[in-house]
Amino acid sequence: MRTIIKNGHIFTESEDYQADLLIEGGKIVCVGRKLPGDEAEIIDAKGCYILPGAVDVHTHMDLDVGISRAVDDFYDGTVAAACGGTTAIVDHMAFGPAGVPLHHQFEVYKKLAEGKAVIDYGFHGTAQHVNDEILEELAAMASDGIPSVKVYLTYGFRLNDADVLQILQKMKEVGGVTAFHCENHEVVEFLKQKYKLEGKTAPVYHAKSRPNLAEAEAVSRVLNLARMADDAPVYIVHLSCKESLEAVRDARRHGQKNIFVETCPQYLVLTEECYRREDGLKYILSPPLRTREDCEALWEGIADGTIQVVATDHCPFNYGIEKQMGKDDFTACPNGAPGVEERLMLMFSEGAAKGRITMNQLVKTLCAEPSRIYGLYPEKGVIQPGADADLVILDPRGSYVMTQERMHGAADYTAYEGMQITGEIRKVLQRGKVIVDGGKFLGKKGDGRFIRRKGLN
Ligand code: URP
Ligand code: ZN
Ligand code: ZN
Repeated sequence: MRTIIKNGHIFTESEDYQADLLIEGGKIVCVGRKLPGDEAEIIDAKGCYILPGAVDVHTHMDLDVGISRAVDDFYDGTVAAACGGTTAIVDHMAFGPAGVPLHHQFEVYKKLAEGKAVIDYGFHGTAQHVNDEILEELAAMASDGIPSVKVYLTYGFRLNDADVLQILQKMKEVGGVTAFHCENHEVVEFLKQKYKLEGKTAPVYHAKSRPNLAEAEAVSRVLNLARMADDAPVYIVHLSCKESLEAVRDARRHGQKNIFVETCPQYLVLTEECYRREDGLKYILSPPLRTREDCEALWEGIADGTIQVVATDHCPFNYGIEKQMGKDDFTACPNGAPGVEERLMLMFSEGAAKGRITMNQLVKTLCAEPSRIYGLYPEKGVIQPGADADLVILDPRGSYVMTQERMHGAADYTAYEGMQITGEIRKVLQRGKVIVDGGKFLGKKGDGRFIRRKGLN
């Protein structure tokens, strides 16, 4: 099947220009003018922007957190992603039972995603303990298309510094990336218990128990460990505050290479004021929401290139059910919020349309860099001949109010309810097929493919 997208304005990470796109066999085959249209389906994108399908490298579909389970499975979650202009995800697999090999969760996740995902997907490994077998297995995981592993410095299966160092060394050898959730576990646990003992159990104490410096300390520690591992590739997930940005800038100033930084829209758009609201439980996620000053520092971090990626950390729970576990005690509330559908339009409306970032920076952080860092390039995140025809047609003249009713995921709220949005997604294509049209999902359950990702080298 041949499709031509005509009259659109194409944005890449470095350019923008008026051109048509010829799509055949699910691939972009030509970018230019006056493309041969015989027997092709024509999509008129007059007045619209054409972007690569966005890539979200931090989701938690169907995440089992012990006390409950994230409410989007790989169907609901990827339908929501598609409707928000995301055409590929790399999902962080949950912890398995203590002591399992890395492949255990891979097998579990294959079953969770196969036949359900509507967009293409990959997985990050999750390191929950370290020994010789696990270190060996990192290479096998990379050969199986998973050249990345996540390490938590807090929560139940956190790793210590010696474990972290060994993982970093091995992942460098394997040509993979180690991603880190950075928070100082002892500090956070101490403060949580202190507030609980004092009877301070409202959502705002979630933020107070996880201060900026508890994150920045862990970011610095990990960067130093990566430096000790000969500049091993290190990826900081959901960086949320100005002090952490400073730690990254310091490391780079000292010449450290292979540092990748991710933030998420919630840290750019929302503030800790949300915890004072009646529905403050909706915003219990970690790291917590910060101050307006932190938000502005993060926008600057995108604009000056300190931050490479904007992902979502999509991890939805229902406000009416799971989140209520925290109503008398913030520490009992499952951490996380939905966001996979909201990301692109938030970044367009709050970022590009308001002049905080350029359209090229938007494409770079939502499409090209996540694709490159996590081995999806040049099939994903880019508009050029040979790439998958994963595309978003976005109308900058559109506008709407973000509401739960418009969302396609399973959660009963959006954290951005009532927000005025500039622009609107008209169509989303995956591998040449229109899967979203005028806000309607037209794709098919199970059409998403597992992506065997490549390593960095
Ligand atoms: O609160 C969050 N972010 N929940 C999801 C798990 C994680 O820490 O990334
Ligand atoms: Zn995390
Ligand atoms: Zn996460």
